[in-house]
Amino acid sequence: MTRDLMHTAEVKDLVRAAYRHVPPTTEAVARKLYSDDELAQVPDSAIRRALGVANHLRHAEIRPGDVVLDLGCGGGIDSILAARRTGSTGRVIALDFLPEMLQRTEEAAREAGVDTIEPTEGELEAIPLPDASVDVIISNGVVNLSPRKTRVMAECARVLRPGGELCVSDLTVEQEDLPPEILTQPAAWAGCVAGALEEADFVHKLERVGFVDVDVRDHQPLSIDDCALYPLFSDEVIELMRKLIPAEQHASVATAVVIRARRSAGL
Ligand SMILES: C[S@@+](CC[C@H](N)C(=O)[O-])C[C@H]1O[C@@H](n2cnc3c(N)ncnc32)[C@H](O)[C@@H]1O
Repeated sequence: MTRDLMHTAEVKDLVRAAYRHVPPTTEAVARKLYSDDELAQVPDSAIRRALGVANHLRHAEIRPGDVVLDLGCGGGIDSILAARRTGSTGRVIALDFLPEMLQRTEEAAREAGVDTIEPTEGELEAIPLPDASVDVIISNGVVNLSPRKTRVMAECARVLRPGGELCVSDLTVEQEDLPPEILTQPAAWAGCVAGALEEADFVHKLERVGFVDVDVRDHQPLSIDDCALYPLFSDEVIELMRKLIPAEQHASVATAVVIRARRSAGL
């Protein structure tokens, strides 16, 4: 299939469709990203729903009492881990555009005995929160899914308080490296690969909207075998990737990174 995925509405529709009915995983994704200690803090239902790409929570400065915003919370694993750190005086706004995901987060939070998570329906591109109302923004494998990434970053800068922290996991890619037949696959976009930015572009876009001290760390290659752990990639797409991507790139079709930045005090 070689549909042009540059149309915003089409990308959003395919991302919604891909995630609305995404089946639980075998825990393989969660076991790859989180330690046993971290996994002991979340219910099995959230572990089986983990669809992130790295572990930014180890790098985020989350303090008791903080207001944290989890962009694209999915099944809720990071919202629950963050809520353990904000404690009873803080809160975690778990944002997703799919009611199905919010219900999963709500159920997982209840199972975890956490009552400071606020499942909130909304889009990354129009965050339904007031200006300067959040201390820390976290997100795992989500920004790359938006067809309007600069707009998402500008929204992050708007809702963060001056000096507030953005700490997200995402994929970066050398766009030149992936064949067009892969870049135009809906599953490749939904699977976070086709929509990923080059690292320098990600940093540049953050700086343009008012972030400072941008720091990209924890670079981990994402292989085709890693992609196969995610239920978003069908066997057919994985096969196509093996066939079309040169063998020497199979071990690294994208790079999972943690990106930290601070909202400038003077926006
Ligand atoms: C790859 S999953 C990651 C879920 C979760 N962060 C995790 O680590 O398991 C992406 C999530 O982002 C949500 N999402 C994607 N695009 C979105 C958008 N434009 N606005 C709000 N949510 C979005 C999806 O519904 C899905 O739950």
